[in-house]
Amino acid sequence: MFKRTLVTAALPYANGPLHLGHLAGAYLPSDLYVRYKRLAGEDIVFICGSDEHGVAITIAAEKAGVKPQDIIDKYHTINKKAFEDFGIAFDYYGRTSSPVHHETSQEFFTNLHDKGIFKQKEEEQLFDEKAGMFLPDRYVKGTCPVCGFEEAYGDQCEKCGSSLSPSELKNPKSTLTGETPILKKTTHWYLPLGEQQAFIESWINTKTDWKSNVLGQVKSWLTQGLADRAITRDLNWGVKVPLPHSEGKVLYVWLDAPIGYISATKEWAIEQGNPDLWKTYWQDNDTRLLHFIGKDNIVFHCIMFPSILKTHGDYILPDNVPANEFLNLEGKKFSTSRGWAVWLHEYLEAFDADLLRYALGSTLPELKDGDFSWKDFQLKNNSELADIFGNFIFRTLSFVTRYFDGKVPVPALLNDDDKNVLAEIESTGKRIAEKYERFQFKDAIFETMSLARLGNKYFTDQEPWKTRKTDPERCATSLYVCSQLVAALSVYFEPIMPSKMNELKAQLQFNGVKWNEVKGELLQAGHQLSLGEILFAKIEDERIDAQLEKLHQTTTPVSEPSSEAINYTPVKEAIEFDDFAKLDLRVGKIVAAEAVPKSKKLLKLQIELGFETRQILSGVSEHFKPEDLIGKKVPIVANLKPRTMLGLESNGMVLFSESPDGKLVLIESDNLPGTTIS
Ligand code: MF3
Ligand code: ZN
Repeated sequence: MFKRTLVTAALPYANGPLHLGHLAGAYLPSDLYVRYKRLAGEDIVFICGSDEHGVAITIAAEKAGVKPQDIIDKYHTINKKAFEDFGIAFDYYGRTSSPVHHETSQEFFTNLHDKGIFKQKEEEQLFDEKAGMFLPDRYVKGTCPVCGFEEAYGDQCEKCGSSLSPSELKNPKSTLTGETPILKKTTHWYLPLGEQQAFIESWINTKTDWKSNVLGQVKSWLTQGLADRAITRDLNWGVKVPLPHSEGKVLYVWLDAPIGYISATKEWAIEQGNPDLWKTYWQDNDTRLLHFIGKDNIVFHCIMFPSILKTHGDYILPDNVPANEFLNLEGKKFSTSRGWAVWLHEYLEAFDADLLRYALGSTLPELKDGDFSWKDFQLKNNSELADIFGNFIFRTLSFVTRYFDGKVPVPALLNDDDKNVLAEIESTGKRIAEKYERFQFKDAIFETMSLARLGNKYFTDQEPWKTRKTDPERCATSLYVCSQLVAALSVYFEPIMPSKMNELKAQLQFNGVKWNEVKGELLQAGHQLSLGEILFAKIEDERIDAQLEKLHQTTTPVSEPSSEAINYTPVKEAIEFDDFAKLDLRVGKIVAAEAVPKSKKLLKLQIELGFETRQILSGVSEHFKPEDLIGKKVPIVANLKPRTMLGLESNGMVLFSESPDGKLVLIESDNLPGTTIS
């Protein structure tokens, strides 16, 4: 049995704002867990902070034309505030640019270096001659040697999750200049992970209760075999390598960032007035360490960081790493660069934090990728929060206010229905707790709502509006039962919707209790309630449409094919080859086509691209009937930013040729869907 828990949530890069994908990966699940544990009365500390090193930061700074320091100061502040506003209750939110962090990570490096763990190697690495610098990590893009994805970064392929080194990429290109890099010699320190393989394997084998998606990834890493990993970089932004003759070299960001959890805990301990307290949370075997992360961070938290902690020797290892899969947005991958995202700070300008906590919590990508859609958000809010939970609260409190002077009624004899419902309070509490303990947050939320559903149904079945006249004792008893249920719900919903539940508790004039004290009578007969505002209102279509509009607006429109054909159009102005190279042209097979209602021109096409099927709207109804197109393989512009026409999304463009009389003609290809055209 552990005596206490330390929860960490992945330190987000301070290179941009947070979006809902980030929340669904690490922050909402960890916060649900921590809030539940605090309610259960356990000793738990919750640590996070900004990851402020690495090329994610320097590249963002270069793009914005400012210094890295400006970028991290800006986004550290924005993200810290957005987390607070969203109700993520960190005990401490640190940053890896802090002096405590620099010292702590240098101490780690020195400790391992003194133990003779690292290998120092001179190797040829990719160098951009035009920019005059080595190209670590995201400074280079190319084709993934594992899955063939053409946009893999030098440190990692985001498609298949493989961790890479720049020299493994096929067809590498500098992301700074677009140039093909040359090879140049440089010296670095390497962590020989292969030497840790046996240890990691036997340690992982004890983790039978870990999530299957996490174990799966770790085991596939181990099967591939662990290789040496460079843990220093030629950059001038980061934690300096604490060795003589190492100017211009810094620690690899994935070495220093997880150590950031430790530095932040140290700073928290100082703030607590007990500077040594951090040791209890990092060095005592009675502490349970949990890392909440997204799936792209698994290898670092399950292999690399544990190896480092173990080699150092003074530290505990994670007891669990409940990583989540990815969240999609309206069926597509979040893409910061294409603007396909819902930003947390913008969401919070439009809606209440708790509504998103509920809706997103109900669709967390726990074992497989999940999807957030605005319609679904609206549905969850309207048909669950407003119609079930909110309705039950309001019916109960307004009835008590109106007919019982706002005082919890005195019950008469409880019948079986009453007893069953009251018994559900405790048993549901146990079921929810079990789900939290197993990191099954979606299920925990579902179980919580099921108690509200039960309450709402009980109210309807009891018909107090009738019994008020026919059987006043029954009426009083049923409202007594409903009041207990509402009070219980105000506790059970606390991890999910903390600020709404504070409002509810204020209406109930109830201070709340610990999780396992939710049983028996929470509100005594005669207890005064004070009805306040409705807690959950419906969200109208207009507000949702506005969000959808905003999402699609951030993308550039596709130009609709013109119907005024000009014969033999003059050749357009010459363009650079690079401009042409930006086009992603593919063969796509039209697998479905139908007219768009209320449009004279548009056809809605489903195009199979081999790796995905997507919807494209094409202004060609005056030229083709849907059945003329189905089954045809045609050229597609595959990387046009999505846009919406008549409320439908179009994600790409089909190319046709135009005859002198202005008729469109199909350009057919024999090649497989998805193959490139160049
Ligand atoms: N900044 C990384 C990311 O966003 C996560 C760092 S987690 C830590 O993917 F362990 F390194 F802190
Ligand atoms: Zn890959």
